[in-house]
Amino acid sequence: MRILAAGWHGQIASAFMQTAPGREDISAFAIGRPGLDICEPRSVERALGDIRPDVLINLAGYTEVDGAESEPELAFALNSAGARLLAEAAARRDVPIIHISTSYVFDGQKRSAYVETDQTHPSTIYGKSKLAGEVEVQRANPKHIILRTEWIHSPFGRCFVSNILQRAQLGMPLKVANDQYGNPTYAPHLVDAILEVAAYLTSRPPEDIPWGVYHAAGSGTATWYDVAREVLVKSEQLRGLSFSLDAITSAEYSTPPHRSPNSELDCSRLEQAFGVKLPAWQTGVQECVAHLLAVDSSASRSDSP
Ligand SMILES: NC(=O)c1ccc[n+]([C@@H]2O[C@H](COP(=O)([O-])OP(=O)(O)OC[C@H]3O[C@@H](n4cnc5c(N)ncnc54)[C@H](OP(=O)(O)O)[C@@H]3O)[C@@H](O)[C@H]2O)c1
Repeated sequence: MRILAAGWHGQIASAFMQTAPGREDISAFAIGRPGLDICEPRSVERALGDIRPDVLINLAGYTEVDGAESEPELAFALNSAGARLLAEAAARRDVPIIHISTSYVFDGQKRSAYVETDQTHPSTIYGKSKLAGEVEVQRANPKHIILRTEWIHSPFGRCFVSNILQRAQLGMPLKVANDQYGNPTYAPHLVDAILEVAAYLTSRPPEDIPWGVYHAAGSGTATWYDVAREVLVKSEQLRGLSFSLDAITSAEYSTPPHRSPNSELDCSRLEQAFGVKLPAWQTGVQECVAHLLAVDSSASRSDSP
């Protein structure tokens, strides 16, 4: 199976390039700018023509939730128009697309986990641009799987887990919100799920595939405080690193929070359709901390005289 991912330096794309090449059944390619610019039709055509993938995965996008409020054109250009270009180019070659979306398509006011059929109602520009992207992908390519995920963390680039760890190592006391609920998702776990779905798409006739929108996130619900606590427990266990951690409410933040009180995603539809379930979120946070601390200690060894 030949898989082409659009995007290469992002958290999920980096996890894809760590995981996919190790799988015997997969020839994995990730191309980002300038080789593949999702806003440039010619570069999209060229990448698809050169690689001739069996499945295209869109891992590129505008992901700055707060930044999107002041850069709406860019957010829509990437998350909506760029997604459409990819979906159209794939459709012309009869190639299915797996597109990554977000829980920000909901307003976060529901009191229980969101299911795929819940009414979307994004309250941020980022969420609106991602919802527009979902609509474009659905229109452009009937062979689509849209995976809504959230709270991505990984050893690649900056994320909540690496921020907490860095501040802990600097001895900074931490105050973390304990009133927003979601599903922390470890990028390598999401990539495993994407690859399972991709394998399903290429092993069955198209009419047997339940194309559509699915939720794909770490199993179990947490607050950001819960995630920080898990980082504390694991880093204490691995390195004896301890830090002071207090729970606060989001109202105590100094910056305006474009965050939802509840973005919990019910992922049972993915499991029923494809037999795919992501591991418990705690496992992902623990693996992420272990990876970050291992990289950190090998860097300090190589820096030592
Ligand atoms: N992070 C999350 O918590 C989260 C949650 C839900 C959904 N998602 C979705 O998952 C997808 C990937 O997210 P991520 O967290 O891995 O993203 P990320 O780390 O912010 O990386 C975004 C990637 O998009 C690439 N990109 C930006 N503009 C591009 C263009 N014009 N052409 C090609 N590539 C371009 C960037 O490339 P450069 O390296 O060249 O800048 C970067 O590699 C996005 O669609 C995002 O909306 C993310």
